Amino acid sequence: MTANFPGYFISFEGIDGAGKSTHIDAFCKLMQECYPNHEVVVTREPGGTPLGEQLRGLLLDAPMNLETEALLMFAARREHLAQVIEPALAAGKIVISDRFTDASFAYQGGGRGLSIAKLNDLERWVQGREDGALLQPNLTILFDLPGEVAEARRSKVRAPDKFEKMDLNFFEKVRQEYLRRAKEDPQRFHLVDATQTPEAIWNGLQALKINF
Ligand code: TYD
Repeated sequence: MTANFPGYFISFEGIDGAGKSTHIDAFCKLMQECYPNHEVVVTREPGGTPLGEQLRGLLLDAPMNLETEALLMFAARREHLAQVIEPALAAGKIVISDRFTDASFAYQGGGRGLSIAKLNDLERWVQGREDGALLQPNLTILFDLPGEVAEARRSKVRAPDKFEKMDLNFFEKVRQEYLRRAKEDPQRFHLVDATQTPEAIWNGLQALKINF
């Protein structure tokens, strides 16, 4: 069961270099035009709160034990939910987050090999509500593409952070875990074939049916 709020929660996901950052701002503007009576809140993970942004700095730079990394990701997420996401959804706002829990399954689980059982526990711990429901995005837009295409794109544009320095095999495992999560919850996920041109991807996003 997914938690019921008057607002609407959308997450953007994908391996580094898949192109989600290219589209997220335009998508937020589009949502604001489509739903002028609902404020759109744009946020990101890890981050989204002052504490979360401090944790982001550590998470993206400092090497650390895998369990520590997962716990800090979920600690930042708990703060993000409590301070930003839940109050906004309760007030009927549209929340758009650049990454959420699927990224922990994909990177800490798929990529680095933390057990999915432990991640399920953390997800329930952090997103579980008193009535037993799990707070999940209403919609997750997953930019999917092969690891090698993403790697070629990344190398052109920026200096890599800790995760972006990982090898192709790591990103293939991240991708597979994203796809496993998508298969497990097909109603929540919208898959974008991120090998398409930016124009084609944008046309697809504009045509997306939002169930709000
Ligand atoms: P990203 O969202 O790609 O931001 P930017 O475009 O500024 O690089 O970077 C966040 C990184 O954090 C990305 O490599 C994935 C990683 N990450 C995890 O490993 N686990 C998580 O739970 C989250 C939210 C992100």
